[in-house]
Amino acid sequence: MPSRLRTTLLAAGAAVYYLKARRERGRVERLAAAALESLLNAIDANDQTTGEHARRVAAVSLILADAHGLDDRDRSSVERVALFHDVGKIHEALFDITHDHHLLSSEERAQVATHPQRGADVVAPLSLFYPDLGAGVLAHHERWDGTGYPRGLRGLEIPLTARIVALADTFDAITCQRRYDAARSAPDAVEVIKGERGRQFDPELADLFLSEAVQARVHEAMHPWHCSPTPHASKRKPESAPGDVPDVAFRWRTAGV
Ligand SMILES: [Fe+2]
Repeated sequence: MPSRLRTTLLAAGAAVYYLKARRERGRVERLAAAALESLLNAIDANDQTTGEHARRVAAVSLILADAHGLDDRDRSSVERVALFHDVGKIHEALFDITHDHHLLSSEERAQVATHPQRGADVVAPLSLFYPDLGAGVLAHHERWDGTGYPRGLRGLEIPLTARIVALADTFDAITCQRRYDAARSAPDAVEVIKGERGRQFDPELADLFLSEAVQARVHEAMHPWHCSPTPHASKRKPESAPGDVPDVAFRWRTAGV
């Protein structure tokens, strides 16, 4: 066979192989994304409050990730950790405790503190596709000063995803009504985060979170959820998603399909 023809055939074979591999990779990525979306649906079906909390935390986390200059890949990691950070709370062992409207006893608090590990266990089978997800979920209650749980990680030992989500999680916990805690104002949350700068939170990320530009975007993103302490505080479903708020809930359904 003439060498020119052989080269052409080899090049054509390589192109076909590359296209097949790319198509297969796309299929696998969509399968993994579908698994995540099913998991999100399962959270909603089990515990709507946690599902809504997860979406708000994801929206706020993405704002901070953008402000921090993360690329698309890292931004998506932050989004996934934010969406599934509390998946361990829907575990049967914690269901009654987290659905009671009373203050938790120390024993119950210790039980609830198992949710990062339970959540990491839930997402462990997805580590092949999302290797950082479990570590982020596990670490979202770690503290910058090393006094968090479950492993007492300190400073930069805590994955960036978890450091970002911790800020968004705290902001949401303060400004949105919980089962046993009334909503407080955004300025209250700002004061708490200021006080925990360098204690609970990465100081640089806390400063970024508290910056005027980020707070303006957070305010806008949270507005449709009616989380502020108003007579509508219990009506947490957004009436409509504003155009510039990431469509967190259904991103995966359309992405790349
Ligand atoms: Fe949590």
